[in-house]
Amino acid sequence: MAEQTLRAAAAERGFDVGAAVDADALATDPSYRRRLAREFTAVTPENALKMGPLRPSPDTYDFGDADAVVGFARAHDMRVRGHTLVWHNQTPSWFRPWEYTDDEIGEFLRTHVHTVAGRYRSAIDTWDVVNEAVADDGEMRETVWYDALGEEYLDLAFGWADEVAPDADLYYNDYGADAVNGKSDAVYDLLSRLLGRGVPVDGVGLQLHALGDWPDPDSVAENVARFRDLGLDVEITEMDVAFPAGEAPPDALARQADYYAEVVETCLDAGVDSLTVWGVDDARTWLRSFREFPERYTGDPLLFDDAGDPKPAYHAVRDALGRS
Ligand code: G3I
Repeated sequence: MAEQTLRAAAAERGFDVGAAVDADALATDPSYRRRLAREFTAVTPENALKMGPLRPSPDTYDFGDADAVVGFARAHDMRVRGHTLVWHNQTPSWFRPWEYTDDEIGEFLRTHVHTVAGRYRSAIDTWDVVNEAVADDGEMRETVWYDALGEEYLDLAFGWADEVAPDADLYYNDYGADAVNGKSDAVYDLLSRLLGRGVPVDGVGLQLHALGDWPDPDSVAENVARFRDLGLDVEITEMDVAFPAGEAPPDALARQADYYAEVVETCLDAGVDSLTVWGVDDARTWLRSFREFPERYTGDPLLFDDAGDPKPAYHAVRDALGRS
C-alpha cells in the first residue's frame, strides 16, 4: 500500500503545510510541480510577489510569475500566502526614494498595496502585509517607509490592504521573534500598539529560520500563547533548519527531523494551524545562494533532499501530524 502523503496527513488534521515556491522551478521542472502538489496544502511565492520582481519599471507591473504560482495553487486546491506587500528589501532597482517627497512615498505605497492586494483579492486569503519592520535591537527598523511616514506606515498599509481585500487575513511577519526574546518583545509591543489604534491586523507570522541557533520549542509555545492572548492568529511562515557550516553532527538529519517534529507538536498544542517551510527541496534553498550564508550554514534545511527524495524530516513532520 502506498504511504500516506504529507498533504493527506495535514489535511486530515485540518492543518496547512505550505512551501515557499521558486517560480523558475515551477515553470521548468515537472518533478518539482508534482512534489509540490502532492505533498503540500499551501504555497507562498518565495519572491514573485515582492515589489522588485513585480515592478520592472515605474509604469509597469509584471505579474507573470505571481500569476503562475497563484494559478498553480488554484488548479491544485492549495491555499496561497501572499508575501509580501511592504518590505524594505527587494524594492525595484529604479526606485530612488530620495527623489520623492514623504507624501509621494505614501502615495506610491498606497498604489502598490491597492494594485497587488486588489488583483489577488479572490485568490489570496492571507497576506504578509508588512515584513520585518522591527530591527534586531528591538527598535523600529529605519526603512524608506519608516523614514517617510513614521510608524504610521504600518497603520496605513494594513488599512489599504483591508480596503481592497476585506476578506483576507492580514499578517505582520518577522524573523528572530519566534521564541520569547528581546525582539519578540518588541514585535509584541508593536502589535499591541497597532491593535490599540484599531489597525486591522489579524495575525503574526513567526518565520522560524532555525539557523545554527534553534529556538527552544517551549519558548516558542510561550510566545505563541501571548500573541494569541492579544487576539491574533499565529502561523509559522518560513521554517528551515540548518547547522553552522562544518559543525553538523553525524546524526544531523535525525536531529533536524526531531526538531521539525517538536515544532509541529508545539503548533498543534498551541493552536497554530499552519506551518510553511522556506522551500521544497535542499537543492533550491536560499541558504545556498544568499550573501555569505553558504559559508555560515549547512545547505540542507528542508524536507526533501537534492534529488527530491523525502528526508527524515519529512517523515517526522508527517508522523507528528498523524499522532493524536
Ligand atoms: O532573479 C534574479 C536574477 O535575475 C539575477 O540575475 C540574480 C543576481 O543576483 O538575482 C536574482 O534574484 C535573487 C532572488 O533571490 C531570486 O533568486 C536576488 O538577488 C536575491 O536577493 C533573492 O533572495 C531572496 C531574499 O529573500 C531577498 O532578501 C531569497 O530568494 C528569498 O528566499 C528570501 O526570502 C526572505 C523572505 O522574503 C523574508 N524573510 C527572510 C527570507 C530569507 O532571507
